[in-house]
Amino acid sequence: MAFYSEKVMDHFANPRNVGEIKDADGVGEVGNPVCGDMMTFYIKVEDNKIKDVKFKTFGCGAAIAVSSMVSEMALGKTVDEVVKITNDDVAKSLGGLPPNKLHCSNLGADALHKAIEDYKNNKK
Ligand code: FES
Repeated sequence: MAFYSEKVMDHFANPRNVGEIKDADGVGEVGNPVCGDMMTFYIKVEDNKIKDVKFKTFGCGAAIAVSSMVSEMALGKTVDEVVKITNDDVAKSLGGLPPNKLHCSNLGADALHKAIEDYKNNKK
């Protein structure tokens, strides 16, 4: 009965970086039109690096695990490095996701990239 990898279960049971950053430098929100789940990422950037990252996810277990993993992958990286994180990278870092749950991993990197876009727009 191994639908989910241990990593997915761990990030689902103990999600990292849950919350909101009130004075965030960038906010990215995406929704999944198929299931109606929502994910919002908040980032703080200093010296072009992600100094803090938090998320709020209203979604399935896989979406929560994905958010948690994305937040860990982003923390401490430069803005340019974060933009290169793909949905596929996220699913791989989680040890894979069941095929019918792969769409959930799409939200993660998308929300993060939107937060970066927002940050860049705010800077202008
Ligand atoms: Fe909606 Fe997973 S079922 S994100």
